[in-house]
Amino acid sequence: MIELLPMRRRDLRKVMAIEQAVFPEPWSHAIFASELSLRTGRAYRVARLGRETVGYLGLMFQDEEAHVTTVAVAPAHQGRGVGKELMLGAARIARELGARHLSLEVAVGNTRAQTLYRRFGFVPVGVRKRYYQATGEDAYVMWAYDIDSPAYDERLARIAETVR
Ligand SMILES: CC(C)(COP(=O)(O)OP(=O)(O)OC[C@H]1O[C@@H](n2cnc3c(N)ncnc32)[C@H](O)[C@@H]1OP(=O)(O)O)[C@@H](O)C(=O)NCCC(=O)NCCS
Repeated sequence: MIELLPMRRRDLRKVMAIEQAVFPEPWSHAIFASELSLRTGRAYRVARLGRETVGYLGLMFQDEEAHVTTVAVAPAHQGRGVGKELMLGAARIARELGARHLSLEVAVGNTRAQTLYRRFGFVPVGVRKRYYQATGEDAYVMWAYDIDSPAYDERLARIAETVR
């Protein structure tokens, strides 16, 4: 069973290992540390499977928007529903903290992540050209609107039923 816990500085060694394994342009330790030091406007969680850190997510809050700053699953644990549980957590935390919409950027070639995001009601609303400097790849900007609505409640409940 996956557990989502607040990310702490002591988690960063494992978080950085995953970050460097999955992203061509990994965040530095300093970026994570600075995000964690902010008292308001952020929510970072790690996913634990037993005692192992298998993934993490970050949210940044601004007005009615919760922006997914990062979501990642350790390579050995991908494709087993951890990403889905992280996104369920993201949507729930966003709603609890009063956000009405979710947003994120995703590489145009990352169809796997896009499939996951579409299940959570994200739709592409624009393109940021050459958003990723390391690869020169474009990013889609995707939004999930009205996450505070009964319809979105139902969507999350349906997804939660598929969690093993
Ligand atoms: C994208 C990522 C977070 C997804 O996490 P995950 O744990 O691998 O995904 P899940 O196992 O929860 O899969 C969720 C859904 O994604 C889709 N999916 C999973 N594996 C897939 C694959 N190999 N191909 C296509 N779609 C796939 C399916 O729709 C799946 O639904 P299901 O549970 O009904 O099968 C993870 O693969 C990852 O960390 N990738 C590298 C970093 C990254 O790209 N982060 C996103 C940046 S925007």
